[in-house]
Formats: sequence, structure tokens, C-alpha cells
Amino acid sequence: MSPSKQPASTSFKAPDSSRLQLDEQGRLRHFLTTEGLSKDTLIEIMDAAESFSSVGNQAVKKVPVLRGKTIVNLFFENSTRTRTTFELAAKRLSADVINLNIATSAAAKGESILDTIRNLEAMHADMFVVRHSDSGAAHFIARHVAPHVSVINAGDGQHAHPTQAMLDMFTIRRVKKQFTNLKVAIIGDILHSRVARSQIHALNTLGAKEVRVIAPKTLLPSDTNSLGVHVYGDLKTGLKGVDVIVMLRLQRERMSGALLPSEHEYFQCFGLTEEKLAYAKPDVMVMHPGPINRGVEMDAAVADGKLSVILQQVANGIAVRMAVMTLTLGPNRTVIDADNY
Ligand code: CP
Repeated sequence: MSPSKQPASTSFKAPDSSRLQLDEQGRLRHFLTTEGLSKDTLIEIMDAAESFSSVGNQAVKKVPVLRGKTIVNLFFENSTRTRTTFELAAKRLSADVINLNIATSAAAKGESILDTIRNLEAMHADMFVVRHSDSGAAHFIARHVAPHVSVINAGDGQHAHPTQAMLDMFTIRRVKKQFTNLKVAIIGDILHSRVARSQIHALNTLGAKEVRVIAPKTLLPSDTNSLGVHVYGDLKTGLKGVDVIVMLRLQRERMSGALLPSEHEYFQCFGLTEEKLAYAKPDVMVMHPGPINRGVEMDAAVADGKLSVILQQVANGIAVRMAVMTLTLGPNRTVIDADNY
């Protein structure tokens, strides 16, 4: 396949993201990145997710919104939260879901990703949910699918993880009600984090007062200055007065060289403990996209503490993914009100 691994110091720039993911009426056709999407679109996703959030509390956890549609989960990289919540979201929308096991699929025999896609399209797939270690993989597939097929990016390399960012925005909005007064600190391995990139674009579009990144210099991307963030190298200074903290995992699997002296030293400088948490606002929200490395980026007492919303993020992922699937694939691609189905 053509998308190649990007060097750690450069970011993947999709050539035509906005055009590719919107239809001629400006509505979502694919969901590949938060970059370039309008504030109205981001709000539409959150409002739709709000409408779907009660489905999980019903005796029968289903609405017939995507009945008759076929959704294929293509996870070329490991996942617990994203894959499971996409599957649950599709099932709650009454779609038929296939989870292709890449390890036992013909991809393991050398079949190209496009041949895999064409074969699944021949089976009348309507949507591909794609996770891949190569930045740009979901864009690549979106450029080649049939006109009626939608592609959702479930995380590509170090480029984007837009549904994670939107479930994070949804979680923030539920707790803080608005974005314009918020100071948000994103802490840790910014360099390799597709989550951080997607969050930064979304937070800036939604009008957050200040987005900070707190990290060692070796874990900052070369284009940090163009991202619209304030950079801090000291955790305690960076935490002062923040309303939201997003901790990031050290992505060892994407590190090619020795970017850190040791995990112990990293935790001493950038690990979130209860003592350091006290520098933020008393009602700060503590977030983490998962998976957590306890004792590396955060103390267990903070991860499980009363300010943590980490499991709420996971739960909200179902409603947000229902919203994104419906907006891209739904019958009318219009305003969603789950109560009317
Ligand atoms: N946050 C996230 O993407 O987690 P998974 O890798 O488990 O999907």
C-alpha cells in the first residue's frame, strides 16, 4: 500500500482532508480528521451523541437507525476501547458488523489493502472503520472506495484519532458545559500522539481559551509552533490554573531512538501525582485516552481518583461513535434525534 510510515519528526498532512471527508452539501461523508472541520460540524457530532447517550440505558439497547447497513471493522493495529466501542455503537444502531481478524485474514498472505477493500465492497460493505499504523491509511482507503461507502479513521499512525478527540470533547462539554473559558493541558508524548493532534485541532476550533502542551523537548513534534498551543517544559508551571488535564501514554512502539533517559526519570518530571495535581484548579478534570501505564505517566491514585473521568470517556465513546456513524451513513444525514426512531 502507498501510505508509508512518517518519520517521527514530521507530521502527515492529508492533501485534501476537508474536500475528501465532506460531501457536496458540506456534510460528513467520511470522518478522517478533526483538522479543518467547522465548529458547527463538531457541535453537530456532540449534539447527536447527546441524543444517542440514553440508548445504553434502555432495556433493549438498540435503535434502528442503520438497520440493513454493513459495517466492517478493519483493525491492523491493536485496540481494546476503540474497536469494542465501534462494534457496540454499530450494534446499538442495528447495523450488521464484521470484525475482520487481520492476523488470520488474507492480508497475512500478502493481499494488498485495496484488494481487501474491493473484496469487502463486493460483499456490499457500507462502511469501513480503519485503524492502521501508517499515517494516511484511512485517507488512502477513502480515496478509493465506492461513492456510497464511508470510511471512519479509528487511528492512523501518529496523525489523527478523530473519534477519540470527539469523545474527549463530548466528555469535557458534559462536565464543563462550554469551551471558551477553559485552559486545557495535554501532557506527555505529544510527538507520537494522534490523539493530541486531533484534540488540539478540535479544542482550537471550539474556542478553548488556552491549549497547553507539557512535555520534554524530545517528545514535541517539529511543527509544534504551528499547532496553536502554549509549550511548557515544567509540569508544575504548566498545570497552574488549568481546567482540564489530558495525560498521554508513552508510545514506546513508535519510538525509534532513545528519546528518554528512563521511565523512572520521566515519571519524576512528567508523571501526574496527587501532589502535582494540586497545582491545577480544584475542579480540574483528569483525562487519559487509554491504555494507561500506571506509574509511568500517572499515579494509580490519580487515575482512579475523584477527579478522573477516564472511564466516562470510554462510556461516552459509544454514543460519539454512534453519532459519527449515523452522520456519515445515516438515511438522511440530517439532524439526529434518537427519540424519533
Ligand atoms: N484510546 C484508544 O485508542 O484505545 P485503544 O487503543 O484501546 O483503542
